[in-house]
Amino acid sequence: KTRLYSGMQPSADSLQIGNYIGALLNWKKLQQTHDAFFSIVDLHAITVAQDPAKLRENTRATAAQYIAAGIDPSASTLYVQSHVAAHAQLAWALNTLTGFGEASRMTQFKDKSLKQGADATTVGLFAYPVLMAADILLFQTEIVPVGEDQRQHVELTRDLAARFNSRFGDTFTIPEASIIRDTAKIYDLQNPTSKMSKSAESHAGVIWMLDEPKVTAKKIMRAVTDAEGGVVFDRENKPGVANLLTIYSVMAERSIQSLEDEYAGKGYGDFKKGLAEVVTETFGTIRGRVLELLDDPAELDRLLAANADRAAAVADVTLAGAFDRMGFLARR
Ligand code: TYM
Repeated sequence: KTRLYSGMQPSADSLQIGNYIGALLNWKKLQQTHDAFFSIVDLHAITVAQDPAKLRENTRATAAQYIAAGIDPSASTLYVQSHVAAHAQLAWALNTLTGFGEASRMTQFKDKSLKQGADATTVGLFAYPVLMAADILLFQTEIVPVGEDQRQHVELTRDLAARFNSRFGDTFTIPEASIIRDTAKIYDLQNPTSKMSKSAESHAGVIWMLDEPKVTAKKIMRAVTDAEGGVVFDRENKPGVANLLTIYSVMAERSIQSLEDEYAGKGYGDFKKGLAEVVTETFGTIRGRVLELLDDPAELDRLLAANADRAAAVADVTLAGAFDRMGFLARR
């Protein structure tokens, strides 16, 4: 089976609909045909300041959301990144192969560091993409299903793998990003030309998986559209409606065409009401399951520990090979 790897940050207590559509739904499908590893990347989350007690809770909550959304922890390996020491170890080695200029060109770093200012920007944030490369390469990953915003990081991973292999001998599989064009970028409902994000300044345009259905419905009803009217997919001129159509189409498993037909001649109000029903129904079910899972944290922790053992068994072999080739003296 083809090896697949992906991950998400536990940087909020709930995932947002972009994570669900851009990542989780694909993971759920792909896990049936691939040897899949999914991590909760807490080491990445701390590249911006986290409250320790919250981070712990958010890590469990993120695991519960993976499972509730359909990731099967007996078919896939679902684990917490910090439980497997090899991530940080390989990341250090890869740091020494990464150019300062190369890392400086990562657009996500540029955006985040610009927002935070030089003094608040840490070396950890700068090295973030290298840690992501370590995640992927430790598992000899062939396919990395992610949203559009992670494409550049997967490119860097490929470059680092090739560089390591040519310098030290064949060690790492060169991975490929798998990005589903139509759903790779879900936009903020209030600002439909910028990406929906867990870390958005205002949450008015963010649909959280675990929000109360009433809150979600209200946000959808208030989503920005346009004055023209007409439920038609036109990304250029009607970005708000195009975004809602994308979300609707995925959540209802219907084509955009069939939705355009259904709402032809109707107002945005009807359209949004239909969308709100579909979203709150799916997320309502997931929410119920998440609350059940979080009700028994000991069981969840046990499951994560067993999965971490499986992940470590794979990662440790790759790490040992890489360290050996780099010339580290083996510990006897
Ligand atoms: P993160 O936690 O920001 O996002 C998790 C996944 O959700 C996708 N995503 C979106 N897709 C569509 N529309 C959106 N608005 C949207 N927002 C987020 C992201 O593209 C991602 O696939 N660096 C990664 C986590 C990571 C990782 C890895 C991923 C760490 N190591 C190894 C793959 C392989 C991140 O911060 O994702």
